[in-house]
Amino acid sequence: MQEAVIASPKPYYRELKANRPIAWCRCGRSERQPFCDGRSHEGTAFKPLVYRPRADEEVLLCGCKRTGTPPFCDGTHNNLPGGYSTDLRSDEERGALRRSTTAADGIARLDGRCYVASPARMAGGQGAHSRTLKIISRSLGAEHQALFLVELKSGSSPAFGTGSADMVLFLARGSGSVTISGRDFAVREGDGLHVHPNEWFRIASPADCRLFVSTLPGVEELEQVATPTSEFDARFPNRLVSVDQTMRSEMGPRYFQMLVDKAAGLEGAAQFIGHIPQSRAEMHRHLYEEALIVLSGEGILWNEESCTDVTAGDVIFLPRKHAHSLECIGAAGMDVVGVIYPGDNPSINY
Ligand code: FES
Repeated sequence: MQEAVIASPKPYYRELKANRPIAWCRCGRSERQPFCDGRSHEGTAFKPLVYRPRADEEVLLCGCKRTGTPPFCDGTHNNLPGGYSTDLRSDEERGALRRSTTAADGIARLDGRCYVASPARMAGGQGAHSRTLKIISRSLGAEHQALFLVELKSGSSPAFGTGSADMVLFLARGSGSVTISGRDFAVREGDGLHVHPNEWFRIASPADCRLFVSTLPGVEELEQVATPTSEFDARFPNRLVSVDQTMRSEMGPRYFQMLVDKAAGLEGAAQFIGHIPQSRAEMHRHLYEEALIVLSGEGILWNEESCTDVTAGDVIFLPRKHAHSLECIGAAGMDVVGVIYPGDNPSINY
C-alpha cells in the first residue's frame, strides 16, 4: 500500500474557529500543509479528512501523516526515523544564555513563568511530625494545576481535601498506608494514587516519607479536613498504580509509563513516570501545563533565554506553550514523574 509522505516530523499548531471546517491533508503532498490543496492527492489512494470544530480550539494537526487519531497528533512522530531530534545549538549559543540560580525562596526563575523549585531549600508548613510545602500554585504562576509536598517523619498526616478538585498522589520516598475516604491502600515508593473530587486522604508511615499531591484544577491551599466524613466513590475501587516495566512506551530514546490516567478514572489529565537517558532533546512546547518531579539524576533545563541546573528532588514547572528542553547530563540517566493538565498524552510536543 502506498505510504503518505512525511510533510513535517512535528505537528502543526493551529487555532480553529467554531463551525469552520478544515480539510486536513492525509497524503502529505499538499503545498498548503497541514491542509489539503485540492489537487496533490490526485492519483494516490488518499483523500483529505474534513473536520468541523464545535467550538474555537487550539489544536496540533499531524504533520507526519501517521497519527492514530487523525487529524490530531498522537505522538507517533517521536518514533519515526529522525522524528526525535536533539538540540543542535552550539556550545557558544548555549553559553550566552542567562544562568538562573536558586533564590532565597528556593526557586530558580527562567523565562516567563517557568521555574525550578528546590523543596529542600523552601521554608514553611512546619508541624511537629509533618510539613506541607506549596510547590506549584496560581500565586506562583500556574494557571491550571497545583502541587504540594507532604513530608512526614512518622505516624499519620492530617486528612487533606480540596472539595471539587481531583488529587493525584505520588509517593517519592517511604512506604505505609494511604487512606482515601475510609478505604486503605498499602503503598510503597513509586506508587501513584487517584483521589476523586470531594474525597479526602491521609498517609500513615512508620518512617520518613515524601508524598507529592497534585490538584487538578489547582487550588491555593491543601485544606486540612477537621471531620473527614465524605464517602469513598465506590464506582472506582482501584486507585493505586505501581511501576510496571511491561507497561512502558517508547518515545525516541526516552520511555515512560502512564500511572494515574483515564484508566484510573482521571479525565483530561495524566500522571506518568519516565526515564531520560544522557541526551539533550531539541526545544519544544506542549499544549498542556506540566509539573515534573526529578527523582534521580542531574541535568540542565534550557529555555530560549535562560537555563538552570536541575538535580534529584527538584520540581520543574512548565507553563503551556513554553519552549524548553531538559538535558540529562549523567551517564545513569534521569528519572522523572510528570503531571500534565489539561491533556492526557505526554508524548505530544511541537
Ligand atoms: S505529527 Fe504525526 S503523530 Fe505527531
